[in-house]
Amino acid sequence: MVYSEKVIDHFANPRNVGEIENADGIGEVGNSKCGDIMKMYIKVDDNKISDVKFKTFGCGAAIATSSMATELIKGKSVDDALKLTNKAVMEALDGLPPVKVHCSVLAEEAIKAAVGDYYKKIGVDPEIIK
Ligand code: FES
Repeated sequence: MVYSEKVIDHFANPRNVGEIENADGIGEVGNSKCGDIMKMYIKVDDNKISDVKFKTFGCGAAIATSSMATELIKGKSVDDALKLTNKAVMEALDGLPPVKVHCSVLAEEAIKAAVGDYYKKIGVDPEIIK
């Protein structure tokens, strides 16, 4: 299996690892097949993702995609964060081997779950993100 340099970089030096105390939204997702788990924390100010952190108990590609996904949504509006697709994360990482595509799906889902949690807290119908 061949990984791009960017994947290896984000795996070896993941950005935004950790937790956010009093996060505005927390999302946790898992993949039942591989058993990997990803937890995403967001802080929202003025409808912008002012901070985002993650913890991933999973494979290298899951760590690299969470790292890249957090970089891609940091500073963006909440709505833009919701639009982030696993495809965009993979492209930003210069691709993933086909058997690792599901790892990037986990990153997209974790962000959607964190934003969904935020919306619930502020009383917005989470249906709009489905
Ligand atoms: Fe399951 Fe990567 S092998 S998230």
